[in-house]
Amino acid sequence: MVKKDKYKIAVVGATGAVGRRMVSILEERNFPVACLTALASARSVGRTLSFRGQDIAVGELKEDSFKGIDIALFSAGASVSRQYAPIAVKSGCVAIDNSSAWRMKKEVPLVVPEVNPSSLGKIWGIIANPNCSTIQMVVALKPIHDKYRIRRVVVSTYQSVSGSGYKAIEELEQQSRDILEGKPVQKNVYPHQIAFNCLPHIDEFLENGYTKEEMKMVNETRKILGDEMIEISPTTVRVPVFYSHSEAINVETELPIKANEVKDLLSSSLGISVVDNPNKNEYPQAIKACGKKDVVVGRIREDLTRANAINFWVVSDNLLKGAAYNAVQIAELLLKQVSP
Ligand code: A2P
Repeated sequence: MVKKDKYKIAVVGATGAVGRRMVSILEERNFPVACLTALASARSVGRTLSFRGQDIAVGELKEDSFKGIDIALFSAGASVSRQYAPIAVKSGCVAIDNSSAWRMKKEVPLVVPEVNPSSLGKIWGIIANPNCSTIQMVVALKPIHDKYRIRRVVVSTYQSVSGSGYKAIEELEQQSRDILEGKPVQKNVYPHQIAFNCLPHIDEFLENGYTKEEMKMVNETRKILGDEMIEISPTTVRVPVFYSHSEAINVETELPIKANEVKDLLSSSLGISVVDNPNKNEYPQAIKACGKKDVVVGRIREDLTRANAINFWVVSDNLLKGAAYNAVQIAELLLKQVSP
């Protein structure tokens, strides 16, 4: 990619929960967009999206959709990315992919700009955006790892339905209404009722008893932090919340660690807001993190059962820092590194 004043951008999956946020973040960040191409499936042809006050017609994703495009942001699921990201790269564009398709490939950078910006490297093809629950965790872990050296992480997630896309948002809405009105519940997205329930099941189950989502947290965290020795023990849970994921995290470190030091450390770290005033009932909450770009950390306290261990609670907007905003941050980082 060569340096330009403005770039031609495509959003693949532009009608989806994440794709729409990608379009609005590009606008909000005043990203140097020469023209925006909105792509989705044939079902969406005829729809329009608003960008900078203009109606953009949604086009059908095809093999020739990437001609002349500089950067394509993908969020249309792993099978679309598997098929089309290499086609986009062949057409000369950089593909920033929000799906799980390419994340663990050795040659593909997996980037959280506050955490491992240098992993972006100098030769760009496909660049992967990590999983939403991993992103918010590593933003909080990175400063702790740098200062105290993390040995082990035990994490339980409380993930909102928007992580499963628009259909899941509608399903939670509809099921909640139906239950309160005494009507029978319809299930399409999840195998069980999600309204008024918690499902310890995100993505497919694997032979080792964990889900794919849980193993993403293990493998992606190690890749992003560049440390294969960190032990990570995850449980991922879908909860009846529309937006923002919450995580209870326990961290064991090599060096002695104190809660008040961690509060100061995280307060001055990139991309983190600390909200931690238990006396005033102030702590991170999903409904308050919604629409915010920072990862919010609170309930920071020492683990009473272990030396060198702390507990904390991390909340973040899964569609923004967990997906669209992180992808646009990667694109911004890319522009800083493009040589003239
Ligand atoms: P469409 O709206 O036309 O189905 P979400 O995560 O909210 O479910 O959104 C998924 C996004 O990915 C939508 O924009 C959807 O478009 C798009 N998408 C899904 N399958 C395809 C496909 N085969 N080709 C192109 N876009 C797709």
